[in-house]
Amino acid sequence: MDQFKGLVLSGGKGTRLRPLTFTTAKQLIPVANRPILSYVFGHLGEGGIKDTVVIIAPETGEDVKAFLKDGSKWGMELTYVYQDKPAGLAHAVKIAQPFLRDCPFVMYLGDNLLQEGIQEGMEIFKREKADAVIFLKEVPDPRAFGVAVLDGQGKVQRLIEKPKEPPSNLALVGVYIFSPKIHKAIEKIKPSWRGELEITDAIQELLNSGGKIYPKIVEGWWLDTGKKDDLLEANTIVLDTYAKRQIEGEVINTSISGRVQIEKGAVVRDSTIRGPAILGEGSQVENSFIGPYTSIGNGCTLKHVDIEHSVILENSFLENVERIEDSVVGRQARIKGHDKHRALRLMVGDYSEVEL
Ligand code: TTP
Repeated sequence: MDQFKGLVLSGGKGTRLRPLTFTTAKQLIPVANRPILSYVFGHLGEGGIKDTVVIIAPETGEDVKAFLKDGSKWGMELTYVYQDKPAGLAHAVKIAQPFLRDCPFVMYLGDNLLQEGIQEGMEIFKREKADAVIFLKEVPDPRAFGVAVLDGQGKVQRLIEKPKEPPSNLALVGVYIFSPKIHKAIEKIKPSWRGELEITDAIQELLNSGGKIYPKIVEGWWLDTGKKDDLLEANTIVLDTYAKRQIEGEVINTSISGRVQIEKGAVVRDSTIRGPAILGEGSQVENSFIGPYTSIGNGCTLKHVDIEHSVILENSFLENVERIEDSVVGRQARIKGHDKHRALRLMVGDYSEVEL
């Protein structure tokens, strides 16, 4: 069998994560201080993939390229393909086809985080000589997802997009393995009511033409980082899974408990930090409390701040803020209170959310 290639979808508009996505690609937003794409490429690399096509949007593509560079960090060669507008997941496959040629490939949505890698799915694909393997996760309420129905032999029988009355609780997560037969199926489908070429329609078409499609049921966590609360949940779960106690920065007169990661060049003084939490390189913390499930990006400054269960992106400055929780603060933001116990004065951009 030909070597598997990778296909990472890193275009789209990310409207649900505005205002962050006005200035950053959704897939570059950090979870536990690592951009989501770095987890995605970690999994593709572990799966032995050496050649990956990356779909990028005109608005954010340059940032994605600046982060991934030539892919050598993951031992991979990359080909970038621009998608003018987010015309659907199957459209992304269509424009990648000249580079994927007739190789089987692993398609990974660039904003999805999975605990497990792709190897087991690849094994199923090879063992069963499948036309596709789709990664599925049991969820309590599958109405917001694509849902799969399995037949008596454990193969995929049918797919339904966002069903009102779900026939199963197996939701499609953002990872798929396809044989080149998917390209023919995509040629046959028409745009959906929302004007997109849907991958679920293409998979259904593959099934209708006798394609063998197997599920890979994901046991570990699966996190879609589409909205603010998803992002906070992802940060919590990823910190819970991976944070270690590792102190490389300077710690002065500070109490640290639990799994706290303080990266090099960070300075913390007269503060309390409770893990799991991470402080990025070069961050400065003074007279503050940093509570569990908080990620502070590189180069941030916090003075007299009490913060918990939040994500602060790089180079932001927070001073005299009595309490922040369940918050996401973008890069280079400034949040300044006048004195402790006084009301906050915030300057907040378009589409931002402030909960006081
Ligand atoms: P979505 O979350 O479906 O779309 P989006 O990123 O545009 O977000 P929103 O709904 O908030 O506007 O996309 C899933 C992933 O696939 C995401 O990483 C973006 C990518 N994508 C493309 O690269 N091209 C496309 O045509 C679409 C629809 C998505």
